[in-house]
Amino acid sequence: MRLDIISIFPEYFAPLDVSLIGKARERGTLDVRVHQLRDWTHDVHKTVDDTPYGGGPGMVMKPEVWGEAIDDVIGEGKPRMIVPTPSGRPFTQELAQELAGEPWLLFACGRYEGIDSRVMAEYGSRLQVDEVSIGDYVLAGGEVAVLVMVEAVGRLLPGVLGNVNSVTDDSFAPGSMQNLVEGPVYTKPPVWRGHEVPGVLLSGHHGNVARWRRDEALRRTVRNRPDLAAALDPATLDKHDRKL
Ligand code: ADE
Repeated sequence: MRLDIISIFPEYFAPLDVSLIGKARERGTLDVRVHQLRDWTHDVHKTVDDTPYGGGPGMVMKPEVWGEAIDDVIGEGKPRMIVPTPSGRPFTQELAQELAGEPWLLFACGRYEGIDSRVMAEYGSRLQVDEVSIGDYVLAGGEVAVLVMVEAVGRLLPGVLGNVNSVTDDSFAPGSMQNLVEGPVYTKPPVWRGHEVPGVLLSGHHGNVARWRRDEALRRTVRNRPDLAAALDPATLDKHDRKL
């Protein structure tokens, strides 16, 4: 998969050299190219923003510089374009799965009050463009949101995680535990500072372990994510679930 990221702070993306994503890049599974937006300015100050039409606080990123940058980066190609913004559609595991199936993603990181909307209109007629929010809070710019999305998408690519099951067991992953968050996990030793690992996990009984994991996932979902619990389809709950 090819990823292009355009930003006025390319330094933000240093973490993409590390860990799973860094290894995927070394192996060639991921081809990440980070671009400095200011390279496409023509004035001595390398200006990328201006005051908003209609007034109001803050600055808006200028369309001309974005247009030149995107045209150069994509050439005749047609990547799917992602614009991180708190006003976008929510980033979910489902969207991460969908993006993991794309051959090429282009992330356009806005700063200040955002990018002139005509940029999204212009490329929206040529590419699939999604404005995407990673949550209901406001960051100083799109860079951190792009790091989040690249990590969530990158770990789904074939060969990026050592163990395929770590993806299928995820909270929010499709399957029987879909829409439940993951329950607690334990490793050795069996007793630590007086806290014991639940006996069922040491029993070797796969059926009981699976039942226990589902119960714990359901309990945690009810406690931490009442929104998800309320939205569970009763048809997906068995007799044991309903007792919880
Ligand atoms: N830029 C600023 N806040 C953001 C958010 N919550 N999601 C995506 N991009 C953003």
